[in-house]
Amino acid sequence: MSAVLGISAQYHDSAAALVIDGELVCAMQEERFSRIKNDAALPIAAARACLRHAGITANDLDAVVFYENPFAKLERVLVSTLRSFPASFRKFPTVVREQLGHKIWVLDDIANALGVPRTKVSHDDHHACHAACAFYLSPFEEAAILTVDGVGEGVTTTISKGSGTEITRLRALPYPQSLGLLYGALTAYLGFEVNEGEYKVMGLAAYGKPTRREELAKILKTSSDGSFELAPEYFAYDTDADVGFSPAMETLLGPRRLPGRPWDLPGNADDEAHADIAASLQEATTDALVALAREAKRLTGLDALCIAGGVALNAVANRDILRKAGFSRVFVPPAAGDAGGAVGAAFRFSHAHGAKRGKALVTAALGADIDTERARDTADAMGLRSTRTETPAQTVVDHLERGDVVAVAHGRFELGPRALGQRSILALPEDPDVRDRLNRVIKRREPFRPFAPSVLAERASEYFEGAPNDMTAFMVTVADVKDGAKEKLRAVTHVDGTARVQTVTKENAPLLAEVLLELEKRGRIPVVLNTSLNGAGEPIVGSGEDALAFFDSHPVDSMLLGDDLFLTRDKS
Ligand SMILES: [Fe+2]
Repeated sequence: MSAVLGISAQYHDSAAALVIDGELVCAMQEERFSRIKNDAALPIAAARACLRHAGITANDLDAVVFYENPFAKLERVLVSTLRSFPASFRKFPTVVREQLGHKIWVLDDIANALGVPRTKVSHDDHHACHAACAFYLSPFEEAAILTVDGVGEGVTTTISKGSGTEITRLRALPYPQSLGLLYGALTAYLGFEVNEGEYKVMGLAAYGKPTRREELAKILKTSSDGSFELAPEYFAYDTDADVGFSPAMETLLGPRRLPGRPWDLPGNADDEAHADIAASLQEATTDALVALAREAKRLTGLDALCIAGGVALNAVANRDILRKAGFSRVFVPPAAGDAGGAVGAAFRFSHAHGAKRGKALVTAALGADIDTERARDTADAMGLRSTRTETPAQTVVDHLERGDVVAVAHGRFELGPRALGQRSILALPEDPDVRDRLNRVIKRREPFRPFAPSVLAERASEYFEGAPNDMTAFMVTVADVKDGAKEKLRAVTHVDGTARVQTVTKENAPLLAEVLLELEKRGRIPVVLNTSLNGAGEPIVGSGEDALAFFDSHPVDSMLLGDDLFLTRDKS
């Protein structure tokens, strides 16, 4: 047996992943254990949970691999901070303290925390890990691979070719040319939190028109070979990383939006102007990604493309890449961002030491399971009313038909930012009021944020254009809702007529598949609204205890917990 643990940490979204004999056995984000959203701390709880799941100990590990080179990262950060000296003067002491403090000793820290010999701990390359995560999880024997993010050690964008267990890099773009940093800077400009608010910008874009492309073209200059350049005068990563943009950005686009100001769309002129900027950014980003994908096609001549890096979480762009870049198939893993780097790191070491390719990824449920007995005891101790159900899917559907918003915490939690049926809040998709209720009361988020539908894969094409495809199982792309279906899917159709659809099979989300089959059996459409099981600003629920804490503090109507526990708010 060869067991390799991959680790990503220190930026955001830290995670641990375990690969045994070339197969991904589990992968989990630390935030699900620490309950700190996007936790960047060393993922020691996640690593221990991976070992526990596999029934092995740290002594059984052949290697532990960190997903980037901490020394190269140090050099880039210091050099770029010094380059903008004296503007960076204010930030310099912080940078030095952070990088020379715990960050550079990360490999020793990992060895100490896990109790493995330091000689077994190594590091890899950030974008190589992104590429490996996407390609080795994909169903393709050969594929072009595109990685796009904020920045790795010194690179922001790569094009590679994957074949079997080999990945060869063909092109790379250096920092600070970065689509991730561009999107991040404008996310901050629009009043959202960087590395968190990018989804909000994507949702907002649908409410605007791309009327500011001319200004965007001054910020992002693209070439026909897919390469691009950011005009440095608009950015301030090294001097003001909190926002990332300079005063010139506000001169060009108008005043930034203050964080926390409520949105009023459509209708409010200021809000519409900001939505237009979001739409222009989304279109410019999509065009740049399509150009990169076309270059990947030209360089490889292959039919399939894999995409990873934080920018690959842009579901709208992924749809257009599949449509326009010349590939017949496109795959994006469920954790395309840095959490997936842990998966790539473990795969790369395994394959470099002779492991064969594992199976293509079927399900994102790679986390820890629910301990139903323990959850029952906790529910009792909390005084919550619970019953046992022998037919969990039917019970969930009974309550959905009653108009309930039903929480589901069942099986192993998912890897990545999407809840795909294991840690989800479900509702019927017809009623638009349910969207407002969820946004207002449970998720407490902006009214323009859409909710996603989950549909039985074999029925998906009746409701959604181009579904299913290689991306829809993991909710990493959007599809146009067919005209005839829009009325029935009002709660899950975005204002631009698209939906971030998940196609469900018994293999990728067994309970959700049963729920959808039961709805079909009862003469309903096999579609549910599916949003992640978490409150505002919280990570998605991990354990049974987390689920009970959620149920106790949020007004969902009922909850399936573990194998057979069902909780209701019976007032009798
Ligand atoms: Fe990254």
